[in-house]
Amino acid sequence: MTNIVDVLKMPPGRSISVNGWIRSFRGDRFIALNDGSCMTSIQIVITPEEYSETLINELNTGASISVEGELIESLGSGQKTEIQAKKIVLIGKASPEDVQKTILQPKKHSLEKLREQGHLRMRTNLFGAVFRIRHHMAFAIHKYFNDKGYFHIHTPIITGTDAEGAGEIFRVTTLPVGNGETTDEKDDFFGKPTHLTVSGQLEAELAALALGKAYTFGPTFRAENSNTTRHLAEFWMIEPEIAFADIHDDMDLGEDFLKFLVQYALDNCAEDLRFLNDRAFKEEQQLPKQQRNDLSLLERMQMVVENEFERITYTRAIEILENSKPNKKKKFKFPIEWGVDLQSEHEKFLVEKHFKKPVIIVDYPSSIKAFYMRNNDDGKTVAAMDVLFPGIGEIIGGSQREERHDILEQKCEEFNIPKEAIWWYLETRKFGSVPHAGFGLGFERLMMFVTGMTNIRDVIPFPRTPKNAEF
Ligand code: 4AD
Ligand code: MG
Repeated sequence: MTNIVDVLKMPPGRSISVNGWIRSFRGDRFIALNDGSCMTSIQIVITPEEYSETLINELNTGASISVEGELIESLGSGQKTEIQAKKIVLIGKASPEDVQKTILQPKKHSLEKLREQGHLRMRTNLFGAVFRIRHHMAFAIHKYFNDKGYFHIHTPIITGTDAEGAGEIFRVTTLPVGNGETTDEKDDFFGKPTHLTVSGQLEAELAALALGKAYTFGPTFRAENSNTTRHLAEFWMIEPEIAFADIHDDMDLGEDFLKFLVQYALDNCAEDLRFLNDRAFKEEQQLPKQQRNDLSLLERMQMVVENEFERITYTRAIEILENSKPNKKKKFKFPIEWGVDLQSEHEKFLVEKHFKKPVIIVDYPSSIKAFYMRNNDDGKTVAAMDVLFPGIGEIIGGSQREERHDILEQKCEEFNIPKEAIWWYLETRKFGSVPHAGFGLGFERLMMFVTGMTNIRDVIPFPRTPKNAEF
C-alpha cells in the first residue's frame, strides 16, 4: 500500500495499490480518493461494467475503499496521473442519507458546524491542512532544539506548585465531592493539594541547571474563564531554558526560533499553505475593508522571516501608546499608564499599526509579572520579555530568572509563596547558581500564525474551553 502523497510523485507506468476515503464519484467512472497524506486526491478511473451494481452503488462520498490498478498518464486536464483500477474492495460503507447530515457532505460548512463535528472535521481539506502543518511544526520544534544541543525533558502534569501564580488552576483530587463529608487534604491521593500544571518552567530550570540547555514541550492547563479566540483551557507550550544566559540571549533565541519555524513551514508545507492562503483571502473579501489584512498569510510569514523584530522597553511602549492617535481620540477601552498590563488592543496597535512587524517588549514592571523573574537594578522592573505577533498578540512570554538566593527568598515573601512549597527551587540557587533564562511559546498561538486561522479552537484537534470538553 502506498501513500497518495508518494503516488502523486511517481512517473506513470506501474502497478499500484492505495487505500482511502471517497471524496466524490462522478459519472459512474471517476473517483476522487483521499487518504489524508496530502491535500490532493488521486483520480481513480473505473470501467463500471467490470463491477457489480451493488458495489457501484456503494461507492459513495465518505466510504473507504482499497484500490489496485495501473498508474497511468491522465487523459483529463486536472491531474498528471491517475489510477486505472483493476480491483476495488469496499472496506467501510457510508450511506448518502447519513452523510448528508454531516460535514462530509461536499459543500461549504461554517467553522462552528465543523467544530461541532470535531470527530469528522479532519477529513475536510481545511482541517487536513491545519493538522498536517501542526505535525510539521511539532517536528520542527524538536529538530531545532536537537540540532542546537538542547535536551528534551518531560515535566510533570500533576504538580503542587503554581509557577505563574495567576490562580487559574484545575484541582486534581481523589477526595469525594459533593457529599457533605469534611475532607482533609492530608487524606487526598498525594497527601497535599495538587493541580494540573500551568507551566513546566520551574522543572525545566532544574534541568537547565544540570544539562545546560533543556526544553519541555507538553500540555499545560489554565482555568481562565476568558472565552476568547486566543485562549484554551488545555494548550501545548514549548519552554526552552538556558544556563549561563541573560535576557538578551533569551530574546535572540526567541527570535531565531520563531523565524526558523515559520521558514520550516514555508519550506515543508507549501501545498497546504497555498490552500490556506487562498482560503483566507476569499474569507477576507467578505469583511469590511478596514478589517482585512494588508498582507496575505504567505506575505505575513515572509515578513516575519525577513525582518528584525523591533525590541523596545515596556516604558517606551507606554510612551508610544500615550502619544498615539487612538489614545488621544480616547479609542482605547483600557487606560494607559505606567504600571498597567498591556491589553490586546495596545499590543495590536504597536505591532500592526505602529511598527508593522513583530515586537519584543522587555523590562516590565515587577508588580505585573511572576515571582521568578529577575529584578532589574532600577528597583521597579524585571528582566521579562514578551514577543508580540501581528494578528496574534503575545506569542511568547519569557524572562531571565532570579538566580540570587536572597533576592528570590525576598520575592517569595512579596508574592506570598510559602518557601516550603518550593524549597527545591530555592535550593538550586545555593549550589553553583548561574544566570539563566527561558521562555514559553504557546504552540496553538504559533499554529494560528502559520495557518491564518483566527480562532484558536481551529488549530488544536479537540479544543477544551469553558463549557466545552467534547470528544
Ligand atoms: O506568558 P506565559 O503565561 O508564560 C509562562 O507560562 C512561563 N512559565 C513561560 C516560561 O518562561 N517558560 O505563557 C507562555 C505562552 C504565552 O505567550 C501564550 O503564547 C501561551 O503560552 N498561552 C496560551 N495559549 C493558549 N491558551 C491560553 N490560555 C494561554 N495562556 C498562555
Ligand atoms: Mg505572558
